[in-house]
Amino acid sequence: MIEKLNIDGATESIRNHAAARVVSHHDADGITAAGIMCHVLYRMGKRFQTTIISQLDHEFVKRLNETHNSDRGEGDGDRGEGGDGGGDGGGGVLTIFCDMGSGHSDLVNEVSGDVLVIDHHIPVGELRCPHVNPHLVGIDGAFELSASGAVYEVAKGLSERNTDLSGLAIAGAIGDKQLMTGANADILKDGIESGAITVTKGLRIGDGDIADLLERNSEIYLDFTGDAAKVNEFLKEINVSGRLSEMDEPTSRRLATALTLKLLRRSSPDAIESLIGDVYLLSHEVIPNADDFVSALHACSRLNELGLALSLCLRDRAGVSHAARAAVEYQRTLVKDVREAEPGIVQHDHITCVRLHDAEATGIIASTVTRFLYPEKPCIVLNESDDRIKISARGTKDMIACGLDLAEVLRVASSAAGGRGGGHSIAAGAAVPKGAADAFLATADSLVGEQLKSREEKG
Ligand code: C5P
Repeated sequence: MIEKLNIDGATESIRNHAAARVVSHHDADGITAAGIMCHVLYRMGKRFQTTIISQLDHEFVKRLNETHNSDRGEGDGDRGEGGDGGGDGGGGVLTIFCDMGSGHSDLVNEVSGDVLVIDHHIPVGELRCPHVNPHLVGIDGAFELSASGAVYEVAKGLSERNTDLSGLAIAGAIGDKQLMTGANADILKDGIESGAITVTKGLRIGDGDIADLLERNSEIYLDFTGDAAKVNEFLKEINVSGRLSEMDEPTSRRLATALTLKLLRRSSPDAIESLIGDVYLLSHEVIPNADDFVSALHACSRLNELGLALSLCLRDRAGVSHAARAAVEYQRTLVKDVREAEPGIVQHDHITCVRLHDAEATGIIASTVTRFLYPEKPCIVLNESDDRIKISARGTKDMIACGLDLAEVLRVASSAAGGRGGGHSIAAGAAVPKGAADAFLATADSLVGEQLKSREEKG
């Protein structure tokens, strides 16, 4: 299936340039995508510089273009000889966008010099550069191939020896809550065969003391989350304690059964599915439990420690304990934020909505609300800050099966409200000017209604 991905333009472009400017997105998928690309460029003996950003906009493109000419990669004598698959690399600086660009062709087309886009967001408009994207070849980029997966495929196209990077690709897919089917399953197979990934069965909430994990991890959001006394009561009732990875089979089964019963009362089926099942251990990465690795990347990103996040993907152990501590603190903050947001949840006809001010991690709040609290409708979180309103929307796989496409909803509703948005069918984002919240919500609510209704009618 993965052979379909059209990577020749990308591999040729990388081979033909002496240096690259890598620009990637600040979530776990974007950071692992950048990490894979950095490994590859290093192995090929190319010079590179990496920038992780939250969102591509005119301002960033302007700054990129201003520095492009001072950044030219000629005459450095540091070409690809001896590196994996390095060509002669004489062609100056290549700007490589990872995990962004497909949805903003107008912006990418403004970038000076040679450009390459490797992304998995739904393409909008025509790009005038090599473009790798699963949607272009009939693979669903929301579920079956992430940006890190697409970059991994380019890496593998450059050298078969790059299969050791498959663990990073799988971490990126987990960060985007993708399925291990189709193209992702092919990457997983590479990882297992090359020894980069081992799969065990269990709970997908990272490793550590179970009481501590259940208290602080919003990846499993239940009535006791955030309350140590209630968590201990629950664990005592089912006679479970200790470190998750060291539990014997009957204990972990008892735990999984008790948690599933609790989840069934309110959560979406995909929340339950993604929590109990295959646990991925990444043998080459500095944080082997893939779920812990992803949490550390999220935490570093939110704390704006993007260099640290990238260093983890580059297998530098120096920052591991700091990142792991940051992840624990960040998870506690998230749980507190979701608890505080709960009383402000408002039901519209077709969406659940939360309006916040200067909040953190609106995407995670939206995802927690729709997966664990109100799985009947997509959740849209509006976060007002000084200059604008940032919006995150999340749905469930069941809603997608019923016709929901949040990328379209956010693109259309934000543009009608004077903003900009896009993303994936199941997870999308936007930004609109202050004062445009009501107009945005009214359009979004009716668009979601129309999408779900038109599928009902067709069905
Ligand atoms: O910001 P958030 O995590 O909610 O974004 C969800 C998805 O929507 C991401 O994949 C992001 O790239 C996309 N997005 C977008 N345009 C925006 C904001 C987010 O395409 N203005």
